Amino acid sequence: MYCCTKINDDIIWIGVNDRKTERFENYIPLDNGITYNSYLIMDEKICIIDGVEEGENENFLSKIEAMIGNTPIDYIIVNHVEPDHSGSIKSMLKIYPELKVVGNAKTIMMLKLLGVDLPDERAVTVKEKDILDLGKHKLTFYLMPMVHWPESMATYDTTDKILFSNDAFGSFGALDGAIFDDEINTDFFTDEMRRYYSNIVGKFGAPVNAVLKKLSSVEISCICPSHGLVWRKYIKEIIERYQKWANMEATKEGVVIVYGSMYGHTAEMAEVLGRELGNRGIKDVIIYDSSKTDHSYIFSTIWRYKGLMLGSCAHNNDIYPKMEPLLHKLENYGLKNRYLGIFGNMMWSGGGVKRIKEFADTLTGLEQIGEPIEIKGHITPDERDRLVELANLMADKLIADRK
Ligand code: FEO
Repeated sequence: MYCCTKINDDIIWIGVNDRKTERFENYIPLDNGITYNSYLIMDEKICIIDGVEEGENENFLSKIEAMIGNTPIDYIIVNHVEPDHSGSIKSMLKIYPELKVVGNAKTIMMLKLLGVDLPDERAVTVKEKDILDLGKHKLTFYLMPMVHWPESMATYDTTDKILFSNDAFGSFGALDGAIFDDEINTDFFTDEMRRYYSNIVGKFGAPVNAVLKKLSSVEISCICPSHGLVWRKYIKEIIERYQKWANMEATKEGVVIVYGSMYGHTAEMAEVLGRELGNRGIKDVIIYDSSKTDHSYIFSTIWRYKGLMLGSCAHNNDIYPKMEPLLHKLENYGLKNRYLGIFGNMMWSGGGVKRIKEFADTLTGLEQIGEPIEIKGHITPDERDRLVELANLMADKLIADRK
């Protein structure tokens, strides 16, 4: 329960795992839990950077007490007001009467919107590059508007070159022992970081690019995000990954095929496409039944691969109901830089392929491959040939990109 880990001599990770929470932002499943990272800086002034979700407060406050006993805390820096980090503020203001809350003007305003009773004398409002002097550690602030809330900011310890990056560089997944990237096989967190990025931050590529540019001249020895691993070995790699994600660039050759099917015919079309892509040497082909896999995982996989093929049967003259939310979210996030293939089944009315074509017309950053293939009922030999041809057009594009 009192598990805390030193980042260095003065800075202690006091994060908490949350394995009970089933959903994040009420629509993203947390099958692997999540960690709310908080950091305690022991200096002439004692400072905490970011709190935790209210449901984990007891654990969190116990950790603080175990580390510093009854010692007063001078500051809590609120890099981000979303309740998974600010859920501790109300109780901390009561427990620590000398505590001051540090944030930018929007932070303070938004905390009050969330019902935090924060008198002016207990709020420290900071601007870009202001310095908070703790004694040995001089902290400064980089505003990160819309990464992913308007008030988001990062705190930078100019003394030890540590970036407390808030949600940026964070990931889903509880920390099962290790907290540093060099203590663990990072594959799991790479996937969960992409699921986090694509679903939470993905819409805001331009603001992410602006922040990356702003930080490009800042020396960073360690990135301490508010979720997931602390990065000290693979800093360059995760920044490069963020750069690609911010530009919605695929990071791997492959094709994601997502379909909605009621009686198996559209599913069979997906299988034909996938098999032919495999025949052409496309090794990463991932087929999702949109009814079976949560959209957050499908979304994350789409973020990874250059090829996307969407298929739907017809349902009440419209698209298959489980496909619509996915298309809506991709439209909302402005997906681009992908090759898109379209297929589906109309039976007697149609509607599914029509909706996917509208989707393709909306997202002008997608390059449509071939003509949409819409069949009636089971696949005829001619239709199978057309699907094979569509898969080959997709494979041709991907293979051409290898050069
Ligand atoms: Fe981790 Fe945007 O909250």
